[in-house]
Amino acid sequence: MSFRTIEWRDDSVIMIDQTRLPNEEIYNTYTDFKAVAEAIRGMVIRGAPAIGVAAAMGIALGARDIIADTHESFFRQLENVCDVMARTRPTAVNLFWAIERMKRVAEGGRDKTLVQIRELLKCEAIRVEQEDLTICRNIGKWGATLIPDSAIVLTHCNAGGLATAGYGTALGVIRAAHEAGKKIQVFADETRPWLQGARLTAWELVKEGIPTTLISDNMAGFFMSRGEITCCVVGADRIAANGDTANKIGTYSVAVLAKENNIPFYVAAPLSTLDLSLSDGGKIPIEERPTEEVTHIKGIAIAPAGVRVRNPAFDVTPARYISAIITENGIVTGDYRSGLRRITGA
Ligand code: MRU
Repeated sequence: MSFRTIEWRDDSVIMIDQTRLPNEEIYNTYTDFKAVAEAIRGMVIRGAPAIGVAAAMGIALGARDIIADTHESFFRQLENVCDVMARTRPTAVNLFWAIERMKRVAEGGRDKTLVQIRELLKCEAIRVEQEDLTICRNIGKWGATLIPDSAIVLTHCNAGGLATAGYGTALGVIRAAHEAGKKIQVFADETRPWLQGARLTAWELVKEGIPTTLISDNMAGFFMSRGEITCCVVGADRIAANGDTANKIGTYSVAVLAKENNIPFYVAAPLSTLDLSLSDGGKIPIEERPTEEVTHIKGIAIAPAGVRVRNPAFDVTPARYISAIITENGIVTGDYRSGLRRITGA
């Protein structure tokens, strides 16, 4: 891939600034955990797996900068670093998964020196990033088996290299099918209000030479009803035990339209996106973002001042609309409650 989403370099964290794409390809350098937390909240980095990687790296930065004479003091301050990370965005469970993973590593090193614990945390954060790349490749490998030759694949939001450590989940499936020579085309929903589809998915795919058509969100039904879409592939922010899936706002509408038109609707996500502690999607916390994302585009008002606005960033697609969930361990269909447990080895 010709860009890096996030990396640990020279004891700092480098991220491509996704708020500036597609017009400017700028890489920001972060040297303290609060700035990383702000980058997550402000969508410099976004997408569930990428948020997890950023949180892990932010915690490693935070641990490095803790001034402590005792283990007790270090662990108390580390808890605070983790709390700051946990408050950034509520829906993508990968954030909490990464925080728990970092805490476990620190706890496991309690008998070591503080210098050693800091080093353990740094290595773990880098590992989270590297593992994600391998996971996405495996999701791609499984998912490509579901994509027929010459398919036109509709995707929503950005579940690409930018939303992961690289390669992507939904776009990983698309990339793998493309690499297998399947001559596929992509329809990318623009994804209002933040325009992840127009600004990020289209940017990634055009850069890579994968034939891509950008449509506004309200056009999906039109193309589906005319037989122009072969299947839909989207990512996920949190998947409950019964398969209900939270993903970018508008995903539910795409899934309902797909069912109405007998089009397969696939969710591609790593196992770190599963939240088997939640029985169903109704329990998934949904982030509400600033109203300006709806009333303004690039700082220009597109609605009258004073109008009431709602801005839920995610919706939940009931499992009955999902034809299959593609993970790095394989594909789950049918009874998600038992299938998801089985695929995690639980
Ligand atoms: O608000 P965002 O841009 O973080 O939302 C991203 C999505 O909804 C993605 O589809 C999801 O995180 C999957 S990313 C592989």
